[in-house]
Amino acid sequence: MSKQRRCGRGWVWVIAMASPVLVNGSPEKDAPPAGAEPFARVCAACHGANGEGDKAPPIVPLAYMEDQITVVVRSGQGEMPPIPKVALSDAELSAIVAYLNQLKP
Ligand code: HEC
Repeated sequence: MSKQRRCGRGWVWVIAMASPVLVNGSPEKDAPPAGAEPFARVCAACHGANGEGDKAPPIVPLAYMEDQITVVVRSGQGEMPPIPKVALSDAELSAIVAYLNQLKP
């Protein structure tokens, strides 16, 4: 039980940190790009914080078109597991592609 409660507090913190970006849609001067949060949440653990590669190959610079990346992400490839829409929406995936395209290697 106590473990669950600690988990709950963690989520409150995450939501509190994320909500200014989610609620306030207008991009502030220093607001991170829309794809940064979903990338950090879903992809960074394997591909590195800036897509530089870690357990998985680098994906910056991005050598694929968005439809090809969608296939890799939704179907998986080799050791990369498929990532379903419940974990990452189509809009978030599009935002990630835009984000990766503007990251410098
Ligand atoms: C569990 C670890 C893991 C996660 C999470 C993950 N990937 Fe991957 N990804 C891999 C691995 C491993 C490969 C190499 C697969 C292969 O070809 O054998 C890969 C390959 C890719 C490729 C193809 C790269 C190439 O040169 O062939 C793309 C594009 C890609 N991932 C994008 C993403 C995106 C975008 C996300 C987040 C939505 C993501 N990945 C999340 C492990 C991961």
